[in-house]
Amino acid sequence: MHDVAEEFLARGLKAIDASLQRDVDKQRLSPDEKGTIIERIRTTTNKEGLRDAFIVVEAATEDLAVKTEIFKSLDTRVRPDAILASNTSSISITKLGGVTRRADRVIGMHFMNPVPVMKLVEIIRAAATSDQTYEEVRSLTERLGKIPLECQDSPGFVSNRVLMPMINEAIFALYEGVASRESIDGIMKLGMNHPMGPLALADFIGLDVCLAIMNVLHDGFSDSKYRPCPLLKRYVDAGWLGRKSGRGFYEY
Ligand SMILES: NC(=O)c1ccc[n+]([C@@H]2O[C@H](COP(=O)([O-])OP(=O)(O)OC[C@H]3O[C@@H](n4cnc5c(N)ncnc54)[C@H](O)[C@@H]3O)[C@@H](O)[C@H]2O)c1
Repeated sequence: MHDVAEEFLARGLKAIDASLQRDVDKQRLSPDEKGTIIERIRTTTNKEGLRDAFIVVEAATEDLAVKTEIFKSLDTRVRPDAILASNTSSISITKLGGVTRRADRVIGMHFMNPVPVMKLVEIIRAAATSDQTYEEVRSLTERLGKIPLECQDSPGFVSNRVLMPMINEAIFALYEGVASRESIDGIMKLGMNHPMGPLALADFIGLDVCLAIMNVLHDGFSDSKYRPCPLLKRYVDAGWLGRKSGRGFYEY
């Protein structure tokens, strides 16, 4: 696991530990198994530590410039036959492949949040992704106990092209005073059988991530139907990013 500073690695490990501990508490995992899993994770702030990896799954901030820099630098550091995958929610995999000299080995591997419980991995094939790369990633996903579903590289892929406009529309309903946050979420939970209302889900995903995805859809399709709600922008400007900052549409 690579990050830019030790404090972020420590935060990541703490989150993994807490997630595994929940499995131990529910007796789905023994304390020994948990220890073995934690021991397998090595951390580094230096990309040289990834040199021997056969696959790297990038999951950094949802920002094209950040990811472009990461893909360029991974390309020169990891073995030439390694697969470079991105967990991006919306950024073009074809663009990321294009900054490397191994576009055939670049692919999208979009895990769903919360990863330990969600089965789906959306596998995104970019313009130059080879069949062999796709096959290797499909098979790895199954070995992880997940279900891979394939789609082509297009803004928001399938998951966020459908989900995010729904969340954005719920934010518009709140913005226009159509209903309270509790009513909007309650109507979608009870009426549509969604496990979580769209505003609570936005807080869970992170409002900055939601805004970044709406901007990708808006730019990618040049269609005003994807314009992000002004209220979403205002919350992000205020630093109200959802659960991770203690406040979003709800307080935590
Ligand atoms: N939040 C979700 O529900 C969700 C779901 C599926 C996919 N994703 C995708 O996963 C990725 C990460 O999302 P997040 O919500 O964890 O974002 P986040 O901004 O909360 O965390 C990003 C992490 O990346 C690190 N980082 C930033 N620049 C880096 C660099 N140059 N090298 C190495 N590490 C770097 C940060 O320090 C931080 O630890 C995004 O692409 C997002 O679209 C998020």
